[in-house]
Amino acid sequence: MKNIFPKDFIWGTATAAYQIEGAWNKDGKGESIWDRFCHEEGNILNGDTGDVACDHYHKWEEDLDLLKDNNIKHYRFSIAWTRIIPNGTGDTSAAGIDFYSNLIDGMIERGITPWITVYHWDLPQALQDKGGWTNRESVEWFKNYVATLVDLFGDRVNDWIIFNEPSVHSWLGHGLGFHAPGFNEESTYLKALHHINLSIAEGYRTAKSIRPNLNVGSSYTLLPTYPENENNDEDVTATKRMFEIWNTNHFDPLFTGAYPAFIQEKMGNIMQDGDDAKLQENLDFIGVQHYNALHSTHSESHIFNVFFGEKPKGIPQTDYGWMIQPDDFEKCLVWLSDHYDLNKKNIPIVITENGAAFTDPVVDGACNDERRIDYLSGYIGAVEKAIKQSAPIQGYFVWSFMDNFEWADGYSQRFGVVHVDYDTMKRTPKKSLLWFKDFTEKH
Ligand code: NOJ
Repeated sequence: MKNIFPKDFIWGTATAAYQIEGAWNKDGKGESIWDRFCHEEGNILNGDTGDVACDHYHKWEEDLDLLKDNNIKHYRFSIAWTRIIPNGTGDTSAAGIDFYSNLIDGMIERGITPWITVYHWDLPQALQDKGGWTNRESVEWFKNYVATLVDLFGDRVNDWIIFNEPSVHSWLGHGLGFHAPGFNEESTYLKALHHINLSIAEGYRTAKSIRPNLNVGSSYTLLPTYPENENNDEDVTATKRMFEIWNTNHFDPLFTGAYPAFIQEKMGNIMQDGDDAKLQENLDFIGVQHYNALHSTHSESHIFNVFFGEKPKGIPQTDYGWMIQPDDFEKCLVWLSDHYDLNKKNIPIVITENGAAFTDPVVDGACNDERRIDYLSGYIGAVEKAIKQSAPIQGYFVWSFMDNFEWADGYSQRFGVVHVDYDTMKRTPKKSLLWFKDFTEKH
């Protein structure tokens, strides 16, 4: 295929604080909802926790060297709120600030552009004790946190992602209880959904009010949903709800100030006068994260009667059981661009995550993850096809730079282009990293 990626196309890799750092209670770091959730028995596969994770907190220089040696020019990482402000509001921690300050300087010294994710799901437990995202005050807590980070790092970091995958945090964390903080009620979902959406737009405005020239966006899941049984009306309705939960419950308020009708009716007084205007914002870019397509089924025991359904047989899958269908990715990107008129609004898309879990082992010092190479080349091909159909895509980040803690599934899934041996903490670049280096150098 003829190369259509422009010279300044952004190629990078991504991680998140809780998934790699470890040092969960070192140097004055406060407890987060993920620390708490993992320490409660039965929440995480095999009882895994992020207490040590990849020990990136101590091995960050080695990790940055690996990025540099493999010519990765952009690196997306997240900041743990509890390292900077251990109780969520109030005093900051000098040690936490130093850690990220050194990390950022270390990237700049190595010619790597830092992309900060402000929030990747690890709310301070002290704020959860006050209701967390179900409390409308969360919007003010979050604005204060954003302002603190921009004051600290806005001189050195230009590219900011306000919030990571609000859909997963609201539904899996507040509607199903599979993720921290572990709630599974309609009302907790609705409150968290609305306060998170408000926080994204308000967080954007806070950052821009301090440093108008920053490039500030936010990252969203984007995926198609299909009925488990297309001849079953209840499954078809569940599929519509599933699409809203993952996509339009976040994009619609951002672009139109209103929720899809089904949710808008349920909001009641959670939504206050004037909120429609506050929800809307033209971000500087939309971060898109795509992995999978979801099949949906009617379920009486889950909120909105929606749950994950059986997948059809015969479609290739990753080791996580996620479907490999690059065409879906292409269609979703074109839909997003057309449906919300991104070209007219002059809002670009950056793919801030895409990747696959394959558990290939290290043999004789090498990890030959051919399946990941096939996956990445297929999905990057889909990006290319979407660009040809005018989707304004500016960049692509592989998830993940290294194997890490995959939330409720602990260490069972390996998404990295670098292998991590959790016994020795040894890092081994996989074949896919070398492939990515080579590919991006040519493109
Ligand atoms: C999206 C999340 O942002 C990331 O934390 C997670 O590991 C990947 N998806 C894979 O599930």
